[in-house]
Amino acid sequence: MRVLVTGAAGFIGSHLVDQLIREGHQVAGVDDLSSGRAANLADAIRGGAAFHRMDVTDPEVTELAVGWRPEVVCHLAAQISVRASVDDPVNDALVNVLGTVNVLEAARAAGARKVVFTSSVAAYGIPAAFPVSAEAELRPRSPYGASKVCGEVYLDTYRALHGLDFTTLTLANVYGPRQRRDGEAGVVTIFADALLRGAPTHVFGDGRQSRDYVYVGDVVDAYLLACGNRGSGGRFNIGTGIRTTDMELHALVAGAIGSGAMPGHAPVRPGDLPDMVVDPGSAKDGLGWVPATSLRDGIGGTVDWLKQASGGQQES
Ligand SMILES: NC(=O)c1ccc[n+]([C@@H]2O[C@H](COP(=O)([O-])OP(=O)(O)OC[C@H]3O[C@@H](n4cnc5c(N)ncnc54)[C@H](O)[C@@H]3O)[C@@H](O)[C@H]2O)c1
Repeated sequence: MRVLVTGAAGFIGSHLVDQLIREGHQVAGVDDLSSGRAANLADAIRGGAAFHRMDVTDPEVTELAVGWRPEVVCHLAAQISVRASVDDPVNDALVNVLGTVNVLEAARAAGARKVVFTSSVAAYGIPAAFPVSAEAELRPRSPYGASKVCGEVYLDTYRALHGLDFTTLTLANVYGPRQRRDGEAGVVTIFADALLRGAPTHVFGDGRQSRDYVYVGDVVDAYLLACGNRGSGGRFNIGTGIRTTDMELHALVAGAIGSGAMPGHAPVRPGDLPDMVVDPGSAKDGLGWVPATSLRDGIGGTVDWLKQASGGQQES
């Protein structure tokens, strides 16, 4: 299969490219390296992946796609920060909405069979019930969440108008090797990096905020399944259905490191959701996907990676 991956040099995208190459597929990656790192793709490029430093809002993405003729386009490139989207909603929409439309145009013009789109639990906003079903109402409460919903609306429109198939993967809190520690999402990496250095850590409020943590390797499995014929026109929650509080997560990371450190407490950030956990049941039924990695094992893998990446070199 020929797969074009946008956001290929990023945390999740680079693991996806690695797995596609391992499974013998042909891969072209696109990334502007605004937060991704070329080094994340070093192995994949040695394995035959092509890399194009390109902005997803640029019309040259269509030229690339028409020339290379991918069967599937996995779209992961995005402005990923909720806070940045509040500060600069225009830039968020430029990358996440217009970028997605540009990628859909590229996929259509190239005659691709399918687009696998990356959405976020931020699309649900403040859920009415937990665990959040994939059929829950989309009422985003941030420009970032709104941009993901816009992407989903365009996917549906392109399917109806042009017959371009899609599957949307709505990701919970993804963690694992290569996640940056300077982002707002990478709390496993943030805790682990600080604890390994003996630096202080903190949780927001009383530490009882909870999230649904899913390992990047399991997320990549979902993309591989979505690249096939299953999940046509559907949205699937890619999470574990397990809620983990900030204090529980801290204890697990500290345990993996062998640290007895306790976190300090910082004020709750305005706009932070108290809880988030999704129901991944429809991903099992629709894609045949189930999360396979326990939080303990996934944290172990992440800590091992951080230990190997000598101080500061895992980020550019
Ligand atoms: N990490 C999570 O917990 C999580 C949760 C929900 C959804 N997501 C989504 O998953 C996708 C991947 O996120 P990630 O966690 O790997 O973050 P990431 O920042 O590592 O990956 C995003 C990639 O997109 C690239 N990019 C950004 N703007 C671009 C542009 N204009 N043109 C080309 N490339 C551009 C960046 O350089 C980066 O490599 C995103 O769509 C994000 O919204 C992530």
